[in-house]
Amino acid sequence: MPATVIVGTQWGDEGKGKVTDVFAENVDLVARYQGGNNAGHTIVIGDERFALTLIPSGVLNPGVTPVIGNGTVVDPKVLLEEMAALAARDVDVSLVRLSANAHLIMPYHRKIDALQERFLGSGQIGTTKRGIGPAYTDKFSRHGIRVQDLFDPKIFRDKLEAALKEKNKTLVKLYNQLPMDAEAIAAEYLEYGRQLESHVTDTSLLLSEALEAGKEVLFEGAQGTLLDIDHGTYPFVTSSNPTAGGATIGSGVGPTAIDKVVGVTKAYISRVGSGPFPTELDDEIGETMIEVGGEYGTVTGRRRRCGWLDAVALRYASRINGLTEIALTKIDVLSEFETLKICVAYEADGERYDELPRQHRVLYNCEPVYEELPGWGIDISGAESFEDLPPAALDYIARVEELAGVPVSMVSVGPQRKATLTR
Ligand code: IMP
Repeated sequence: MPATVIVGTQWGDEGKGKVTDVFAENVDLVARYQGGNNAGHTIVIGDERFALTLIPSGVLNPGVTPVIGNGTVVDPKVLLEEMAALAARDVDVSLVRLSANAHLIMPYHRKIDALQERFLGSGQIGTTKRGIGPAYTDKFSRHGIRVQDLFDPKIFRDKLEAALKEKNKTLVKLYNQLPMDAEAIAAEYLEYGRQLESHVTDTSLLLSEALEAGKEVLFEGAQGTLLDIDHGTYPFVTSSNPTAGGATIGSGVGPTAIDKVVGVTKAYISRVGSGPFPTELDDEIGETMIEVGGEYGTVTGRRRRCGWLDAVALRYASRINGLTEIALTKIDVLSEFETLKICVAYEADGERYDELPRQHRVLYNCEPVYEELPGWGIDISGAESFEDLPPAALDYIARVEELAGVPVSMVSVGPQRKATLTR
């Protein structure tokens, strides 16, 4: 497997961090290709819990080169803090590589993210307020400042001043805020540049050369398919392409290099922030999913909305990403329930939808069509192989495979590395 992409098939929080960490045992490089510190990955090793937001989960595997690709947006302060926190816990961060082409999240991006949300009122997206959307907006309107600009103080200052001319008008006139000071930001950011310089490189070249040399590369998507700016539940999405296609654009590696796409799928489904959610449960079952599944955001601590697995969305994710296999996570949480449900279609206004409806407004008021399966009623968190799983759990997995049209190659029954069953 020279190049494998790991993507979330839902609205993020599927357990990609853990799956990436398990896969990373056998790879040489792990690359992030989109998003920024809006992502939250929790990895448990022994008694230790690591929460990562920007550095690829592979960093916890000695010898693996963690790469932050050109498609990401990087808050340099957060990156330096995350590296320092890992180093303080004896994790080697010397191999971290950051693309010179990645865009920087600037202080005004964070500020404008929060202000835009406030002004949207009840229409707010529920962003992580990390400046992600405004940083991508500047990238695509060609006003962005890139990591490489940190090493050219004159260019950096020129770009910053040009950006601030517009941003300060927005801050002062539109949002009634104080203007930001270019010199203070320049001093802060140029210092970050000095601290990061040894990590900055042409990561497209690095990855391509590694692949040519027969090394194994893992592309780690953040967020999930339904949060994709093109393929998700727009506008309640993030501002990048978490789907597998994003891996090539966001890393500078051609699509022919990729031969495996693993769709990480939680055995139920969750979302944070606003937006439609056909299988959302506002009852005791949803409550149990939140509490037993520990469904609180790694980045913002927000309580996640939870519901039954949505196989319409899963089939969609399988198509959009070209999944070759599924890693099914948190199946142990389903041990709590006597009867399990999987949504196999939606119904609205007397019409049945077996695929995601063309008009996304249908997602807001449709009823899920459920198929019921018996639960297994016993704790499976100690299972060490597929053979240890009760027949009802194997049936559930087989049904997921049938509905998705993709084999399940990995099942996770707990947060620990060892609680991972493969076939
Ligand atoms: P943003 O990415 O901060 O702009 O937020 C846009 C939407 O994506 C919001 O609904 C967030 O809650 C959601 N989001 C962003 N990152 C993640 C993630 O890592 N997991 C789950 N949801 C996320």
